[in-house]
Amino acid sequence: MGGTGSLVIFLLCLMFLLGRSPSFASTEKEKTLAMIKPDGFSGNYTAEIKRVILKSGFNILNEKIVHLDEENVTVFYAEHSKRTFFPNLVKYMTSGPVVVMVLEKVGAISDWRALIGPTDAQKAKITHPDSIRALCGLNSERNCVHGSDSPHSATREISFFFGEMFSSGESIANHDEL
Ligand SMILES: *[C@@H]1O[C@H](CO)[C@@H](O)[C@H](O)[C@H]1NC(C)=O
Ligand SMILES: *[C@@H]1O[C@H](CO)[C@@H](O)[C@H](O)[C@H]1NC(C)=O
Repeated sequence: MGGTGSLVIFLLCLMFLLGRSPSFASTEKEKTLAMIKPDGFSGNYTAEIKRVILKSGFNILNEKIVHLDEENVTVFYAEHSKRTFFPNLVKYMTSGPVVVMVLEKVGAISDWRALIGPTDAQKAKITHPDSIRALCGLNSERNCVHGSDSPHSATREISFFFGEMFSSGESIANHDEL
């Protein structure tokens, strides 16, 4: 007894899980924001980083060089604005121009995060020696590059730098609530 009930519950769970997982998202192109921070740009790493980006199968849909001011950094890193390290972050991020790029590929957000490596560049040199941060980062603050950490961040960060022109992607908008 209960065998049929268990089976029904099992099937319901399966349907629930399958219904929730973005089963088609894995074949859809995704966009993310990549940034070469002031240390990466002034350290002449831009060409090498772009070479790695293209070699890894990303399309660079748009790019520009901007010199951020304090207000820009405060808006961009709003979630960090009350942290003790914030004044240093502002100083670093406004110390020179940055390169911002819209990258596109299937799985762009997680693939770009994987390519740049751990936040702490010092650790990256040990655990992820092939990562971009191992190549050009210094520590957890001066870590040379940035990548959006979620579909929600990607949408927000792309529209921050490039307006709405690249942020109308359906696959990105669908995940906004997560
Ligand atoms: C970057 O390249 C420029 C021009 O090629 C050169 O003048 C400069 O010294 C280089 N900077 C670094 C940190 O290598
Ligand atoms: C940065 O802030 C300035 C005003 O201080 C503004 O004109 C500019 O559009 C901002 N840049 C971005 C990318 O938001």
